Amino acid sequence: MATNGKYNMVLILLLICSYLSQGFECGSKDEFRPSDDVYPFKLHSLPYPKYFLMPVLTADILSAHHDHHHQSYVDKMNAYIEKTPDFQDKTLVELINEAKNDEHLQMFAGGTYNHYFYWWVLTSQKNSSPEPQGALLEEINKEWGSFATFKEEFEKSSRMLFGSGYTWLCVNSDSKLEIRNTVNQINPLMGVDGSLCYPVLTSDIWEHAYYLKYKWDKTTYFSSFWKIIDWSIVEMFYEKYASNLQPVPL
Ligand SMILES: [Fe+2]
Repeated sequence: MATNGKYNMVLILLLICSYLSQGFECGSKDEFRPSDDVYPFKLHSLPYPKYFLMPVLTADILSAHHDHHHQSYVDKMNAYIEKTPDFQDKTLVELINEAKNDEHLQMFAGGTYNHYFYWWVLTSQKNSSPEPQGALLEEINKEWGSFATFKEEFEKSSRMLFGSGYTWLCVNSDSKLEIRNTVNQINPLMGVDGSLCYPVLTSDIWEHAYYLKYKWDKTTYFSSFWKIIDWSIVEMFYEKYASNLQPVPL
């Protein structure tokens, strides 16, 4: 009986968190830790509870996206590396570096890395802020004139991506910020199109990222994305890694 009471209380708290997560803190986000994992890879847990991004992204979207789709990329990457001993001592970033001419790595290592990147740049509405600060904001203003114009251009780029892929903000080899789309699970660190770009921010444009809530209205998903950006971590990714032409070790 006492156990049932405790279980019901947890359920009630989860429901309150789910519906009111805009208004107060429900759970928290983990501190970022770089990863140097090698084969066999294990899927990292999400850096926050599944209801943390409500109402922009629902808990059932995060369950399907992380527990099913992200897990499946990690499993397929392990199955591929099991048969490819040369890759067994490589970190995820080192595998991404090898992916330019390897379609299996593009799909499986890319799918693993890109999703980690996406999870980390998101946070609850309460913890998000309207725009970045410091060096990143200065560079955005330099490149696009204003943060509002940058947002418009990023959303426009997402709308122009037909099919599945990602929209990235990244630092190119001229050390300039750039908005770039990649298809499927390719990312700009692979140099597939001939030029490297070091990621700062990403939006997942695969249907599985939004369909359970937004259905065919992906424009609303793109515009809602800004409400849950963790600019403090995006600034850190820019300052510590991308601006030094380094990939974030995930
Ligand atoms: Fe995805």
